[in-house]
Order: sequence, then C-alpha cells, then structure tokens
Amino acid sequence: MRGTGLHCGMSVAVVAILVLACVTVHENAATEFEKDLLVEVDDASGYLIFGEGRAPLFLVPAQRATANEQREGDGARVRRCVGTQTVRAMDPLLLFDHYHVSPPHGFPPHPHRGQSLLSYQIRGSFKHRDSYGGHAEIFAHGAQKIVAGKGLIHSEMPGASEPAVGFQIWVNLPMTSKDVEPYYQVVDAADLVTTFASSAHHTLVRVVVGKFNEHTGRLSFEPEGNRHTSLLHVDVVPGDAFVWDIPAQCNALLYVYRGTLVDALGNTFSEHECIYFEAQTSGSEPQQTRRLSLDALEVPGHLNSSFVLFVSEPLREPVFHYGPFAASYRHEINAWIGAYQRGEYGVLAK
Ligand SMILES: *[C@@H]1O[C@H](CO)[C@@H](O)[C@H](O)[C@H]1NC(C)=O
Repeated sequence: MRGTGLHCGMSVAVVAILVLACVTVHENAATEFEKDLLVEVDDASGYLIFGEGRAPLFLVPAQRATANEQREGDGARVRRCVGTQTVRAMDPLLLFDHYHVSPPHGFPPHPHRGQSLLSYQIRGSFKHRDSYGGHAEIFAHGAQKIVAGKGLIHSEMPGASEPAVGFQIWVNLPMTSKDVEPYYQVVDAADLVTTFASSAHHTLVRVVVGKFNEHTGRLSFEPEGNRHTSLLHVDVVPGDAFVWDIPAQCNALLYVYRGTLVDALGNTFSEHECIYFEAQTSGSEPQQTRRLSLDALEVPGHLNSSFVLFVSEPLREPVFHYGPFAASYRHEINAWIGAYQRGEYGVLAK
C-alpha cells in the first residue's frame, strides 16, 4: 500500500509537473508562433494566410471557366472569357476574346460607342480602318487601342493568307469619358516593352498596356480614367515562376493561352481556361496587395506555358451594354443606334 501510495504520489507529482510544463510550453509556443508568423485562416478560402510584413496574401480565384470556341462576326472563331452567359462583364471589361480568323473572314465595318477597344496580335496580321481616318496593319506582338468615345465606325480584317490570332478586349469608359473624341493608337511589335519575370531571365513578360513593376508599356488606359490597367502576355518557363503583387482594389482576368500553369496555392490552370480574380470591395480591410505566383507545368511538346493577364480597377458605375455600345443610361442605347443609322459616326474611306 505504502509503496503504491508513494508511487501514486510520485505519479501525481510527475503528471502535475508535466501538465504544468505542457501548459507553459503550449502558451509559450502559441505566443511565439503567433509573433513569428501571424498565422490566420482566411474565412472565404479556408487557406492559411500570413500576416502583414511576413508573407503575402495570395490571389484566390473567384471563378473559373473554360472558353470553348464559338463563331462570331463573319466567319471568325473566338474563345470568350468575358461577354458570355455566365460572365457578362468583369468591371471594367465588357468583352475578352481570343480570336482565330482566316481570310477572307473578319470583322467588316461596324460602330462602337462608350468604350475602348484593344487588339493584341499573336500570329498573322489585322488591318484596321476607322471613320476618323485611323488605319494600320498590326503584326505578331503588335497592339492597337481605339477609344470609341462618342462614336466611330471601324473594320478589322486579316491581312495575309495566314490566320490572324490574338486578343480583342473591350473596356468600359468611365461616365466622365463617354463622350471623348475618338482616337486611335498603334504600337508596332518592335516597340513592345518586354522584360523578364526574375533574375533567372527565362520567363518573358510582354507589357502590352500599363505597367509591370517599373516597366511601362506604350499603351495606357489612364488618360480616360481606367485606373491601374495592365495587359501582360507572359511565357512562363518551368522553374522560373512569374510573381506579381496585384493591388487589392483591382479585378484581374487570367487566360491560359498555351500549356498548364500552377499557382502558389496548388491550383492548376489548363489551356483555354479563364480565371477571374475579384477586387476587394471598397471599405473592406485591410487593403493589401495580393500575390499572383504562377509556374508552368512541364508538358510534352511545350517548352513553356503562356498566359495573358488583364488587371484593372473596377469603375463601379452602371453600364448598359448592347453589342458594340456601352452606355451609362438605358435610354442612350436607342439614341445611339439612331445616331448610327443617321450616319453620325462617319463613314469608312474606301
Ligand atoms: C515559349 O515557347 C514558344 C514555342 O513553343 C517559343 O516560340 C517561345 O520563344 C518560348 N518562350 C520563351 C520565353 O522561352
């Protein structure tokens, strides 16, 4: 009994010490852990995120869709990320098309009003003409920006016998810029701003519009008030990830042009997939950049994977979008169609 009692007493003491030690260790560990990493769980995504100044918040896809090929215009084929039944718009984007057009098909004369249009060519060429006298032919890695403003007519037709492949993007104009005088800007491939994603110098970043870090492309949407707008075309070479911090107030669209990408959270994005990232709603806090980190998966037959990324601050304004017209008020659409029918947007020079 004594022996047992003693033994028992010792056990209690040992357990007590262990419990105490445990509590102490646990408390200390928790405190150090928190101090060190500031770990918390993001309610929306369930992902572990890390506090400010330690590690970045990663961008989490809000929605994903595969862009299947559809017919458009006069015999053109497009893969559409924005302007579909499921994603009618992604403020300020009204349309995002990956096009594939073989001559003699194309986009014959048609009007536009209340928006800006961007074309970025990847293969072949496109000839543009508009009722303000703008005309040019853009070739692979050339781009053009058309501010339709108060209305114009334009046509875009493939130049050579080769199919024209590229991107057509419609950006809503802020209310204050709806009626600006139309204008046209073209950037030849030779003037395209390019850089590398990292010091490894493998992953190639083409800055078509706006900025990537300290690199500024030749085209900008800032003059019309579409803030923080960038369009990048990136070839990701496996092992040399593309990493970019996107402002919290921006929406972003990622389109996989070729190959397969994987982000820092382990999400895999396949060829022709559209991935939509949402801006933080104004007023939610903290307003912090969120990191997009993309590497390429090695796929037989592909040396790299390629994507196009559009980033812009949403306008958060009402928009009535009807075909090539983007108005602030519903009644404007009928008035604008009337103006077009009366020939007020001019004519194309033959
Ligand atoms: C990516 O691959 C394509 C062809 O598959 C090639 O034309 C391009 O130069 C490559 N880009 C880089 C950065 O290696």
